Amino acid sequence: MYCYLNGKLKDKDANNIRLENRGFTFADGLFEVIRIIDSVPLFLKDHHKRMKESAQFLGIKFSFSARECYERSVYLIEKNEMYDGELYWQLTRGDDEFREHGFRQEHTGTFAILTIPLRHINMNNWEQGVSLTIYPDLRHQLCEHKTVNLLANCLAKNFAYEQKGYDSMMFRKDERGRKYITEGGSSTYFLVKDSKVATPEIDNILPGITRKKVIELCKSEGIELEERRVFLEEIDNADEVFLASTVSKVMPVRKIANNDYPVKGVITRTLMKRFAELIEREIEEKKGDRLAEV
Ligand code: PDD
Repeated sequence: MYCYLNGKLKDKDANNIRLENRGFTFADGLFEVIRIIDSVPLFLKDHHKRMKESAQFLGIKFSFSARECYERSVYLIEKNEMYDGELYWQLTRGDDEFREHGFRQEHTGTFAILTIPLRHINMNNWEQGVSLTIYPDLRHQLCEHKTVNLLANCLAKNFAYEQKGYDSMMFRKDERGRKYITEGGSSTYFLVKDSKVATPEIDNILPGITRKKVIELCKSEGIELEERRVFLEEIDNADEVFLASTVSKVMPVRKIANNDYPVKGVITRTLMKRFAELIEREIEEKKGDRLAEV
């Protein structure tokens, strides 16, 4: 298997990264997970934009254009024969042999591209829905950036797995102690009530690419959607709940704690279908045009 490291093709398992890399010592870096279907890395331009903007915000050097990332990614997909899987990008601030917390000009940035086999997901989840656990959001204040600092996400997700759940619905408390929903270990949430969709606003949560697509689909379908603070108690009265992410796409939720939801809810089903069509169109557009402008 091959990878790209700082623009160069390498053997993935060679000793490529130094142990003093700030990604390893400080979790000082960003990542993207891009779904590959039919050899096409989906919505690559959106993922590149998110990484670029966060790199700028954090002052991490990222010199690769969307086109350069695209060309290398599709080359790697072919070379590794990973026609259906996940593309993983990781950008860190680079090596720092002194392990000095502050940033220095000479940090050049480390950028890796890998192909990863699709993680195991039960295909029945899209038909039968998944169950969620509830877990406090123990994370930092930089959750609008896709940082590799994921320990609290791992705890939340592992808690769900221990109870045979799919993910945790994480919450924080407002100034009055009222619990509001943030996101999952690796999912964005949507609640439907009286045919209206609500999703947590971008307030220290990840601006998910799938979330953005779902919002656009709601608009084009004439489905009312609000981005706002969503309180945890709202799960007691929701008509439908679904989650979204690059790997989960749009997935129905059938259970959260003691609440059960219909998995064939009209809005969830409509958005699942429209999202599948959007993916089809994206594949059609990009296929056979591998090295075209993205
Ligand atoms: N995670 N929220 C968090 C905390 C995430 O890690 C993810 C994705 C999402 C959904 O974002 P998107 O639609 O851009 O994938 C929301 C990836 C898939 C992962 O860590 O595996």
